[in-house]
Amino acid sequence: MPKRSMIPLALAVLIAIATAPCALAVPQAIAPTAAPAAAPALARIVILATGGTIAGAQPKEGGPAYKSGTLSVEALVKATPGLDALAVITSEQIASIASQDMSDFVWFKLARRAKQLLASPNVDGIVVTHGTDTLEETAYFLDLVLKSEKPVVLVGAMRPATSLSADGPLNLYNAVAVAADVTARGRGVLVVLNDEVHAARDVQKTNSTSLQTFVSVNRGKLGEVYYGKVRYFNVRTDRHTTTSEFSLDGLEALPRVDIVYAHEGVDGTMVRTAVAAGAKGIVLAGVGDGNATKDVIDALAEAARKGIVVVRSTRVGSGIVRRNIELDDDALGFVAALELNPQKARVLLRMALTKTGDIREIQRIFEQY
Ligand code: SIN
Repeated sequence: MPKRSMIPLALAVLIAIATAPCALAVPQAIAPTAAPAAAPALARIVILATGGTIAGAQPKEGGPAYKSGTLSVEALVKATPGLDALAVITSEQIASIASQDMSDFVWFKLARRAKQLLASPNVDGIVVTHGTDTLEETAYFLDLVLKSEKPVVLVGAMRPATSLSADGPLNLYNAVAVAADVTARGRGVLVVLNDEVHAARDVQKTNSTSLQTFVSVNRGKLGEVYYGKVRYFNVRTDRHTTTSEFSLDGLEALPRVDIVYAHEGVDGTMVRTAVAAGAKGIVLAGVGDGNATKDVIDALAEAARKGIVVVRSTRVGSGIVRRNIELDDDALGFVAALELNPQKARVLLRMALTKTGDIREIQRIFEQY
């Protein structure tokens, strides 16, 4: 039989009708008369690597021990088949650290480079590879300071790259697929792990070793991504990225904010230590609904009287810490963290303190972000 390209179009249509199953004959006959659609250009995605277990390597094959942040971003890309069919990839190594060592220095470097790239008409989205331990903090920080509708997706892995059944390659594949997909635009900074898509604000690490560790405990995940196919079923209602009032412009550093952990019998020593160390804010990782012993609450009230902003959050892992329930926040001069866990509340308080020290205004910020 002659090739289709060698026969006139009308004849090709007739052959198509003759060989097509009956129910499909009419639509298939119409299709060839339309101009062939141009193949969509691939999205241009930049991968910014910071290290983490996704780039981890084991000294001994098959064992659980490993060193985080060992492999280069080029090695991660090479180990992920099919990326080139999803997007045109370029990559940069921002840092090579385990994420317990994430610092303001790396945050500023990452955010400033991401800002530059997002402003370029030649970039459609960014993927950041990151250790999972502090991934939620970096994601939320970027969510507050980057001003772009373009997708920014953080991704990590729970098993090192050299592990049996490493989860990094599929996580990276899915992260690039999410970043390359136009439906991710305007959703704020996203986190992709284990086939799930989460909002930077809502997600937290909930298990020290399990692959299913990232959970948006209070609001639920935004969607799913399965071998690169993305489906969203939740939308954000909080302020982020393009509607955020925060930026790093003109800033060289962020104010110090410490977290004080409450437990049975705790005294105010840690609060007084934070004050002596120069903290401008203190987040209470409180018991239950953001509470602590009388000694801690007295020390926090004393700090608040000195102008240090005190935010009450909870160590329990989910729920909402509201104002004036068990404690009189109005009288004590405290702010309630609402849904934010202590580490997220710390990120938001640091950004808030770049704008204001007024606790009413900071409570307004906690209500909106
Ligand atoms: C890290 O956060 O760098 C180590 C843990 C991980 O990436 O899963």
